[in-house]
Amino acid sequence: MPATFDQRIAYYTERVQEKLDSVLPPANRPPKRLHDAMRYAVFNGGKRVRPLLVYATGECLGLEEQALDAPAVALELIHAFSLVHDDLPAMDNDDLRRGKPTLHRQFDEATAILAADALQPLAFSVIADSGDIQPTTRNKLVKLIADACGSVGMTGGQSMDLAAEGRSLSGEEIESMYSLKTGALIHASVVSAALLSAGLSTERESAIDAFGRTIGIAFQIKDDLLDVEGETETIGKHTGADQRLRKATYPGLVGISAARERCNALLRSALEQLDDFGADADSLRWLACYIVERGH
Ligand code: IPE
Ligand code: IPE
Ligand code: MG
Ligand code: MG
Ligand code: MG
Repeated sequence: MPATFDQRIAYYTERVQEKLDSVLPPANRPPKRLHDAMRYAVFNGGKRVRPLLVYATGECLGLEEQALDAPAVALELIHAFSLVHDDLPAMDNDDLRRGKPTLHRQFDEATAILAADALQPLAFSVIADSGDIQPTTRNKLVKLIADACGSVGMTGGQSMDLAAEGRSLSGEEIESMYSLKTGALIHASVVSAALLSAGLSTERESAIDAFGRTIGIAFQIKDDLLDVEGETETIGKHTGADQRLRKATYPGLVGISAARERCNALLRSALEQLDDFGADADSLRWLACYIVERGH
């Protein structure tokens, strides 16, 4: 295990990169256009925050890395699929993602829809194939990730986000939408590692659960702040997209500085949940701070 955070983050990023590469069909396997598009959706410079959260939570709970690979890969595949749909003309209609043309711009809309269609079941296939995990735990992971992805999770939140365009929501309503559209996959990332930990105390389980919920909401507020304050070259997305679509966002409701304060308050509250874990939670603390302080 590398000693510094930077080295550990680089190590986990490389690890998930290799695992993603091994589960995605090669780009030259027919149907080539579809497989090429799936790879484009996954290997175009994402920060890999969800897999990093899986590994860092595993580190905190003293788990073997091998068992963490499957949820790390599955959650990144679901995330990649959600971004492809999010960018479609019927949704946010964006043409830039991670500094490159969005999938439907680089390929075409039908290919983007199909690539996302294929990324989603691949995530569950990876869990089903994970020989390092006991079958009963595998079932629990499938249920966790399916719920986090579905209408009671990310997809439900995306539906609420679209319905809220041009409408004014309260702070509470916005945060509950964020806890679904973005928070659900972030929460599932930390909880997936907790599921793999045999004999985890109820207190520790609740602390990880609350940490995941809290940092997930902070993640989206930060994303909104970057949309207002960031530079297109740095964030790799067109800025001002939320205002253009009249999205109901937290900074839109309370202003930049109050949104920043809320984000910091959520970070403090998330960090408090880690108090009892001592130095074992250092990578998780580092990631929580990164989520709120990141530049892209
Ligand atoms: C962007 O997520 C979409 C949101 C859920 C806010 P990320 O900021 O994690 O995107 P990548 O994967 O690093 O590009
Ligand atoms: C997206 O939120 C959340 C998802 C579930 C993909 P945004 O629409 O704000 O994400 P970006 O800014 O396009 O990455
Ligand atoms: Mg969106
Ligand atoms: Mg968007
Ligand atoms: Mg955004």
